[in-house]
Amino acid sequence: MKSLSALCSAVLLSLSLAASADPIIIKFSHVVAPDTPKGRAAEKFKQLAEEKTHGRVKVEVYPNSQLYKDREELEALQLGSVQMLAPSLSKFGPMGAREFEVFDLPYIFPNSTVLHRVMDGVVGNKLFAKLDSKGVTGLAFWDNGFKQMSSNRPMHTMADFKGLKMRIQSSKVLDAEMKAFGAVPQVMAFSEVYSALQQGVVDGTENPVSNFYTQKMNEVQKNMTISNHGYLGYAVVTNKQFWDGLPADIRSELTAAMKEATEFERDIAQKDNDDALEKVRAAKTTEIYVLPDSEREAWRKALLPVHAQFADVIGKDLIQDVYDVAA
Ligand code: LMR
Repeated sequence: MKSLSALCSAVLLSLSLAASADPIIIKFSHVVAPDTPKGRAAEKFKQLAEEKTHGRVKVEVYPNSQLYKDREELEALQLGSVQMLAPSLSKFGPMGAREFEVFDLPYIFPNSTVLHRVMDGVVGNKLFAKLDSKGVTGLAFWDNGFKQMSSNRPMHTMADFKGLKMRIQSSKVLDAEMKAFGAVPQVMAFSEVYSALQQGVVDGTENPVSNFYTQKMNEVQKNMTISNHGYLGYAVVTNKQFWDGLPADIRSELTAAMKEATEFERDIAQKDNDDALEKVRAAKTTEIYVLPDSEREAWRKALLPVHAQFADVIGKDLIQDVYDVAA
C-alpha cells in the first residue's frame, strides 16, 4: 500500500514537473508579409525571446493575416486568443483610442528624428497609458515609413485625385485626408487590398513601398507618387493580463528582447523601403513620379487644415506636444 502511494506521489511530481516545463506560448499575429520591417522584427523578437528565456517562452509568429485581419486581431488580443500584435498606429481608433491618429496627420513629421523623439517621449507614453483601461499594454513603437500614393492614373496635383476611390486604414484622420484630396476614401482590411485593386473595387491606395511591393500591388497599380505625405508605424502591444501574470524574470527578459528587436526594426525599416522602391522600378509595372518640392508644398498647404479639424478628437495638447518636438 505504502509503495503504491509512493509511486502515485512520484507520478504526480513528475507530471507537475513536466507541466511546469511546458513553455509559455506567445502567439504573435500580424497582417503583413514576413519580408517587411514588421515581419522581420517579429522573427527577430522570436529568436531573442526564445534565446534569452532558454526556451521557457516559445513565440509563434503568424504573418499575412493568417490568424486574424485588422480589426479582428485587436479583439482577439483583448480576449487573450493571441498575446502579441503590432497593428499600425492608424488602427487603434475603432477600439476607442483615436489619439493614436495623431500619427496620421498629414505632414506632421518633418523627418524621422522628430518622429522617433515623439514615439519615445511624452506622446508615446501618453498613448500607451490610454491602452491600459482597454486591457492592452504597449511595449514598443516600430517603424515602417512614410507613405506614397498609388493608383492607375498619374497623381501630380491634388486635382488628379478627384473622384478616385482610395482604400484607407480605419482612421478618421485618413478619411479626412482623402476627402481633402477630393478622393472617395474606403476603409478596408489590409488582406483585401490586392484583390480590391485588381477587381477595381477601389482605384488606389497609400502605403510605404515595402508593403506595396511585398503585397504585389505594383502588378495592379500603374502609377505611384513619392509624396511622403504621411507616416505609417506600429505599436507592439500585448494582452495586459497575460503580461502582468508572467513571472517577473521572464517579463524582464522579454522586455530586453523587445528592446533589441526594436533597435533592429528601426535600423532596417528605411532600407527595406528603399530596396522595395528599387524592386518596383525594376519590375517596370508602375510609373514612379517623385513629387517636386513646389507640388509637395501645394499638397501640404491643402492638407494642413486636417490638423485643426482633429484637434478636439486627438487633443490639442497632444498635437502641440508633437509640434513642440518638431520646433
Ligand atoms: C495597412 O493596413 O495598410 C497597414 O497597416 C498594414 C501594416 O500593418 O503595415
